[in-house]
Amino acid sequence: MSHTEWWASESFWRKTAIWVTAGSFVALIFLTLDSMSAITAGSTRVPAYSVINHRIDYVFDEKRNFQVPVIGVEEPLFDQTLTEAEAEALVSRGKLTTQAKNCMNCHTLLGNGAYYAPDLTKAWLDPSWGSKDVREQMMVDFLMNPQDRLHNGLGRRMPNLGITEGEARATVAFLKWMASIDTNGFPANFTPIDQSDPPADDASAANGSPIPQQGG
Ligand code: HEC
Repeated sequence: MSHTEWWASESFWRKTAIWVTAGSFVALIFLTLDSMSAITAGSTRVPAYSVINHRIDYVFDEKRNFQVPVIGVEEPLFDQTLTEAEAEALVSRGKLTTQAKNCMNCHTLLGNGAYYAPDLTKAWLDPSWGSKDVREQMMVDFLMNPQDRLHNGLGRRMPNLGITEGEARATVAFLKWMASIDTNGFPANFTPIDQSDPPADDASAANGSPIPQQGG
């Protein structure tokens, strides 16, 4: 019988397979918990659902050198202040509507989806909805009857997807909540690229990058 090298033995490869699988399993559990803490509603970057009771602005932050969402005074959606549970139910219904109607087939949400139509992540903040007094109703009207409007002159029209008024209101709640998410620097722990013009040599040596670097 020919002698088998240790690295060619079945038992070595069986043990290797078991250890690699077990190691990956542990790593995936850790990464899942780590991601959950960064993406759960009610965490630092992703506000709780009741944020839809507040005004949401997008303001340039000098220190971070980004536009960041700013949660302001009470400005309830459809003039109704909701409890956390009610807000969650409404936002969830809106999210389900976007899934059921497959908005991602044309739009991106948080960067995921298709590039036929505008990204919806900050659609709530689109200035073409007019003033805050008419925005919510304009959004509901648009979602229910988009086919005969040119919303922002893109030249493409959104088809009528048979969205009911209840679904449209819930979708607007979902869009408002999504606009409050601080998406800057996602995915977490990646160093953002320098967004400013490179400073003069001596200044850069003295000050370093104007952008706070993540992860050292
Ligand atoms: C078949 C492709 C298609 C699908 C599916 C679709 N849309 Fe659209 N949507 C468009 C196009 C095209 C526009 C741009 C219309 C315009 O500017 O006149 C648009 C515009 C919008 C806008 C305005 C964007 C802005 O920046 O102000 C919103 C909000 C919107 N869609 C929400 C949705 C939602 C919610 C769904 C799912 C329920 C959805 N869309 C599904 C094609 C689509």
